[in-house]
Amino acid sequence: MLESTTSAKSVLMQSLAASKGGLEVRNPADGTLLANVKAYDAVEVETVIAQMHAAWPAWSGLSAKVRSTRLKAWNNLILDHADELAQIVTLECGKPLGESMGEVVYAASFVEWFAEEARRAYGEVIPAHVADKRLLTIRQPVGVSAAITPWNFPLAMITRKAGPALAAGCAMIVKPAEATPLSALALEYLAHQAGIPADIFRVVPTTDPAAIGDVFCRTPEIRKLSFTGSTRIGKLLLEKCATTVKRVSMELGGNAPFIVFDDADIDAAVEGAIASKFRNAGQTCVCTNRLLVQDGIHDAFVAALARRVSGLKVGRGDEAGTDIGPIINQAGVAKVDALVTQAVAMGAEVHVGGGRHPAGAAFYAPTVLSKVTPDMDIFRTEIFGPVAPISRFATEDEAVRLANDTPYGLAAYFFTTDAIRMWRVMEKLEYGMVGVNDGLISTEIAPFGGVKESGIGREGSRHGLDEYMEWKYVSLGGIGAKS
Ligand code: SIN
Repeated sequence: MLESTTSAKSVLMQSLAASKGGLEVRNPADGTLLANVKAYDAVEVETVIAQMHAAWPAWSGLSAKVRSTRLKAWNNLILDHADELAQIVTLECGKPLGESMGEVVYAASFVEWFAEEARRAYGEVIPAHVADKRLLTIRQPVGVSAAITPWNFPLAMITRKAGPALAAGCAMIVKPAEATPLSALALEYLAHQAGIPADIFRVVPTTDPAAIGDVFCRTPEIRKLSFTGSTRIGKLLLEKCATTVKRVSMELGGNAPFIVFDDADIDAAVEGAIASKFRNAGQTCVCTNRLLVQDGIHDAFVAALARRVSGLKVGRGDEAGTDIGPIINQAGVAKVDALVTQAVAMGAEVHVGGGRHPAGAAFYAPTVLSKVTPDMDIFRTEIFGPVAPISRFATEDEAVRLANDTPYGLAAYFFTTDAIRMWRVMEKLEYGMVGVNDGLISTEIAPFGGVKESGIGREGSRHGLDEYMEWKYVSLGGIGAKS
């Protein structure tokens, strides 16, 4: 159990370990049991929603300054408990401890950012079209909001939604991923310590995600659903949310291209590829999924990337020096292996890796493949593993065509030293986010989100607050008609 797997005996960890219930939480590195967490059923979640619906007007009625102060207190508590939170993330999600610490800081940054944005939810006064009217708009919270969050960023994907929701004056109920409820419960504990009421921010782990998703979609009191996960599940949720015409934010799958032009700085491109491909063992929505490399630089780039990848250390996230942790579960390992096996059978060449790793059943060797072609599944499927498939191209037009030939449009990357090409290609890429000579684009201050089947809406940045607010237009008549 949790307390015996770690030397830290903090109040936070002990309270999580003491929780008893039907949801088993296991360490993906070795399958050991970490905790049994209370699992909510549909009826219990309906009760929680009713309580939140009754409570949220009081929260939205607080001044923006008071909500901002509570959010700042939450941000401070997250940072004060950074070591413990990072250990929890590594235990239940597997990522290397350094990356988990990075995630804690990333998670806190959304809370801090939206604590500040809470005070800038301005309306407007519109110059009227007739003399005796005054027109204005105000912004109001949408109401009780629900979030369904993934296991790959078990803290940050919650705060990226809860930060703006709470700042706007909404209440938020979160169903965390079944694999990673402990991080979510730790965040909830700290939020309540910071003075955010229990009926305003709630975490409801479950063993029945479909039933809880149904409750979120069909309950009229839930006015907004924010989901991060697969496009397949996102489409189902969209259909269900239509029955109550709910506001939605969807952060869905990707198939990120990483283009290296002949004129790229090769060392910078290799480091960019490492950052964007191998973060969290390749298990992020914005991870590079396929590399497109121009003829003139192809062989040198493949050799340099393979050299760099062969130095990545695979192991448990809590082992010093680990670069690549486990894949979240056996289905994930099998999927990665099947994609590589098919690509190799169809003519792809393995430069490093190419199979499961001896560290254990959950580990896949960091892999570089060349001679990958668009007819291979690996070119079109979100890999979610540490595999870099490389295809070659001859012209800029061909690279853009290959990059855009996908239903997805989340993140794209390209490397070039030609300033004119930077603008030209950036404008042509049909993606919500583009990294130009940059493999790590995520930050709380910029809008995160995709186009096409990669999603709806933007998270983070000043636009993130809009997702949880409605504009109300007010027409004041009978003004100025008489003196
Ligand atoms: C994700 O994988 O969904 C989020 C990645 C990020 O925020 O960088």
